Amino acid sequence: MAAMIDHPRQRESAPQRRTVACGTVATNVCLCDEHYLLRLDMGAGYPATRAGQFVQIQCAAFDDDPAPVVHEWSADRPPRFVRRDTVAGEPLLRRPFSLAGREDVGGRAILSIIYRVLGRGSAWLSRVREGQSVSVLGPLGNGFTWPEAMTVGLLVGGGVGLPPMFYLADALHRAGKHAQAFVGATTQRLLPLNLDPVVLASKAGWPTLCVAEFARCGVEAAVTTDDGSVGMEGLVTEALFNWIDQGRVDPATTVVYTCGPEPMMKAVAEGCIARDILCQVAMERKMACGMGTCQSCVCKTHAPTASGWAYKLVCTDGTIFDARDLIWER
Ligand SMILES: Cc1cc2nc3c(=O)[nH]c(=O)nc-3n(C[C@H](O)[C@H](O)[C@H](O)COP(=O)(O)OP(=O)(O)OC[C@H]3O[C@@H](n4cnc5c(N)ncnc54)[C@H](O)[C@@H]3O)c2cc1C
Ligand code: FES
Repeated sequence: MAAMIDHPRQRESAPQRRTVACGTVATNVCLCDEHYLLRLDMGAGYPATRAGQFVQIQCAAFDDDPAPVVHEWSADRPPRFVRRDTVAGEPLLRRPFSLAGREDVGGRAILSIIYRVLGRGSAWLSRVREGQSVSVLGPLGNGFTWPEAMTVGLLVGGGVGLPPMFYLADALHRAGKHAQAFVGATTQRLLPLNLDPVVLASKAGWPTLCVAEFARCGVEAAVTTDDGSVGMEGLVTEALFNWIDQGRVDPATTVVYTCGPEPMMKAVAEGCIARDILCQVAMERKMACGMGTCQSCVCKTHAPTASGWAYKLVCTDGTIFDARDLIWER
């Protein structure tokens, strides 16, 4: 077995500062058929954030004044209590979205979110306009880490798993670490990327400076699509493991980071474990509270219990897990 860099599986438990804050929409623009980029100005003094963390966004009109309770009571029917926020058809629960980046401009924090329109919450978000207020709970989750001995980070993002990879590319760049990205989608029109018209995505699945979001941090990216509409035709995992198996990186000092559909992450995690490569997986679950209270977001992990496993909470124990700790159920 190759000597491999290691890092503590138990992440530092220093409490993270989090807040419910009102962000002002700086921009909210369409990137491709289904994805939008939302930039939220969180003002001065916003807590520190890390790549891999997420926020819970209230996808409903923000009102400093609690919605008034309308009390209807007449002789011929029972009393009716109506709150504006429950009749407006807006989702009651906040929706989780990964941080795609953070800029600090003149002391103000601007958070970037890239989201896909799926249901009521994200559809509401797609309609918010510049200057509008949005309530944001966060930052939440533990975030990606990189060991001192890491020489290269390989960033593997599929579909809506791409946003945290942009933030991670920026963070690794600032930390002086080398990174390469592998991005996959079913087809080009679902890729929320700015593809360079001159530096083309390699048809062989080799990383090039073809994606502006990665190229600005000096990160080359390999692009794959299921239908071959751009980049290599095939799965992102094929491009990743072809690259690794060609001896392009030293597995002993490489860390793979992945976020995207669960079957993709499982294939990445298992491929890395088989090759003794460290891998950090950004897990997703449907979430209600995002803060460890409702227990709706469990995932199974190896543990020294009688059964050999235990549940962990994706929102607070993760969302980032060491691939070796995870038990995949699907
Ligand atoms: C930690 C975390 C980070 C996330 N980051 C992003 C991100 O950066 N960008 C992004 O576009 N989305 C992200 N998601 C998914 C996003 O939270 C959901 O798409 C969103 O909550 C859907 O809300 P909705 O009201 O629009 O749709 P709903 O009406 O709630 O649901 C519409 C459809 O989406 C499905 N769905 C809802 N939540 C999830 C989920 N968590 N995972 C898979 N399917 C879901 C539902 O089953 C349903 O089929 C993230 C989820 C988690 C848990
Ligand atoms: S979302 Fe409530 S415990 Fe994780």
